[in-house]
Amino acid sequence: MVIVMTPSATESDIDAVVAHVNTHEGQAFVSRGVTRTIIGVVGSEAVLESIDASGLPGVADTKRITAPYKLVSADNHTKRTTIRVGGVPIGPDTFTLIAGPCAVETPEQTLESAQLAKRAGATLLRGGAYKPRSSPYAFQGLALDGLRILAEVREVTGLPVVTEVLDVKDIDDVAEYADMLQIGTRNMQNFGLLQAVGSIGKPVMIKRGLSATYEEWLMAAEYVAQRGNLDIVLCERGIRSYEPSIRNMFDVSAVPMMQRMSHLPIIVDPSHAAGRRDLVVPLARAGIAAGADGVMVDVHPHPEVALVDGAQALTGESLDELAKVVATLPALLGRTSA
Ligand code: E4P
Ligand code: PEP
Repeated sequence: MVIVMTPSATESDIDAVVAHVNTHEGQAFVSRGVTRTIIGVVGSEAVLESIDASGLPGVADTKRITAPYKLVSADNHTKRTTIRVGGVPIGPDTFTLIAGPCAVETPEQTLESAQLAKRAGATLLRGGAYKPRSSPYAFQGLALDGLRILAEVREVTGLPVVTEVLDVKDIDDVAEYADMLQIGTRNMQNFGLLQAVGSIGKPVMIKRGLSATYEEWLMAAEYVAQRGNLDIVLCERGIRSYEPSIRNMFDVSAVPMMQRMSHLPIIVDPSHAAGRRDLVVPLARAGIAAGADGVMVDVHPHPEVALVDGAQALTGESLDELAKVVATLPALLGRTSA
């Protein structure tokens, strides 16, 4: 069951609802979004039957939700949610481009990447300081030094920062510097990490697991929401397939499906899906046409010497092509640039 509070509900209204639920031996999980608070209620059928919060002050609606993901389900929202990352909206009315280097390598490379990103229309900067690598011998990222570089580049360019956190022990550092914390595909079912980022109170991007179903992906988001944070963005980045000529299979159905199943914003990452530069713009176009609320891409001033994923980084002509798509296609679909 979820109890949806009115936008004007006070803290004492929320406390009273939680106390009411507890009195009936239910468990209440309070999740705060930009405009309203939702209280998820867990308990046996008999417990849920006994809880009637509809008359309590500040309660807008009470709903039984059959989906196993309660707080992130589309069921309790008439309109999909817009979240804000350092003031930049991601949601159904706007289109947001997130761009930057796959990994932070040097201050110069990060700044140049951010300038390229901005030129292409990006309003958020991506960049990994902690890199999840298949090989323990591969470049693992600059860690805290990388976070500091991202913060310096934000200072110069004004672009809020999205960056991945790999480990619970690094959350405080990442949260100190990032405007949005990214959970990568390899950690989508790292439940301890999801719970820990859910408690931080900063927006969280959850990339789809390498072979995750839609429900598993939304259950990952539910872990974050259940810890009190509804500022979540979903990111489709391709799933494992048997086709070797592309890195991952970009699942365009994920965009409208997430919009039917959940109220959360959904963006796409065609770079990690394709793994190759020449497919990034076509896939970005497909994602936008399918209704994505944003696109996240890798850019690099010198992809041939990039320490991670140079083959998929946009630069030069490919970046100009993306800029044209971003400047025209979302507007045709009724979205304003965020
Ligand atoms: C980039 O963002 C990831 O760290 C990268 O895609 C990992 O892939 P690899 O380590 O297999 O190169
Ligand atoms: C990334 O965006 O830097 C990344 C590692 O992506 P993914 O988790 O989708 O592989």
